[in-house]
Amino acid sequence: MQLFLDTTDTKVLADLAATGLVDGVTTNPSLIAKSGRNMLEVIAEICGIVEGPVSAEVSAMDTATMLAEGRKLAGLAPNVVVKVPLTREGLVATAEFAAEGIQTNVTLCFSASQALLAAKAGASYISPFIGRLDDHGAEGMDLIAEIRAIYDNYDFDTEILAASIRSSQHVKEAALAGADCATIPPDVFLALFKHPLTERGLQQFMADWKGTGQSIL
Ligand code: G3P
Repeated sequence: MQLFLDTTDTKVLADLAATGLVDGVTTNPSLIAKSGRNMLEVIAEICGIVEGPVSAEVSAMDTATMLAEGRKLAGLAPNVVVKVPLTREGLVATAEFAAEGIQTNVTLCFSASQALLAAKAGASYISPFIGRLDDHGAEGMDLIAEIRAIYDNYDFDTEILAASIRSSQHVKEAALAGADCATIPPDVFLALFKHPLTERGLQQFMADWKGTGQSIL
C-alpha cells in the first residue's frame, strides 16, 4: 500500500519524509489556503521533498481552463499529478490529460458509479472520500470495497487512493479493502506508529536491560 501525506506543511512533510515511509503527497485548495502560501511555490517545494506523486488541484470548473491549469501544474515537476474534480468537465479533461501522458487524480468521489466513470476516463488515481461519507451518515469504507470489486472485474488500471482519512483504523480498513494508496493527515500518520503495549513493552525491556549492567558497544 502506498502511503501519501495529505498536507501542504513542508516542515512537517520534510520531517516525516525522513522516515522513508512517505510515498507521495496530496494537496487540495483548502490545504493551499490553510498554508497561506503561493500554490505554485508550495507545490514545487513539495516536489523537491518527495520523489513520489504530488497531487496539485486545478481551480477551474470548465474543461478548457482545467486543461490549461493542469498543463501548467504538470510543468512544475515530473512527479506532479493533476487533481481534477469528479464532474463531467473534470472527466473530459482527465481523458485529454491521459492522452497527453499527464497523470491525474480524480477527487471528490462519493459513489462507485462516479469511480467507474473516472476509470473509463483514464484516471491515474481515484480519491474516494471516506471520512466525509462517514460524516454524512454513510459507510465510507464500503465505497472502497465496491470500487475495488468493480476495478478488478474490468481490470482497470486506475489506482484507488483512499482519502478523507480520519484515523489509523481508516488506514487499516482501507488496506484490508484493497485500496492501492491512502492519503493521510500527518497526525494520523504519526498515530500509525503507536500502540500502548509497544510503549509498555519497551519500557520493561529497557528496565530489564539496564539491570544487566551490560553495554552492546
Ligand atoms: O485532500 C483530499 C482529502 O483527503 C481531504 O479530505 O475530508 O480531510 O478534507 P478531508
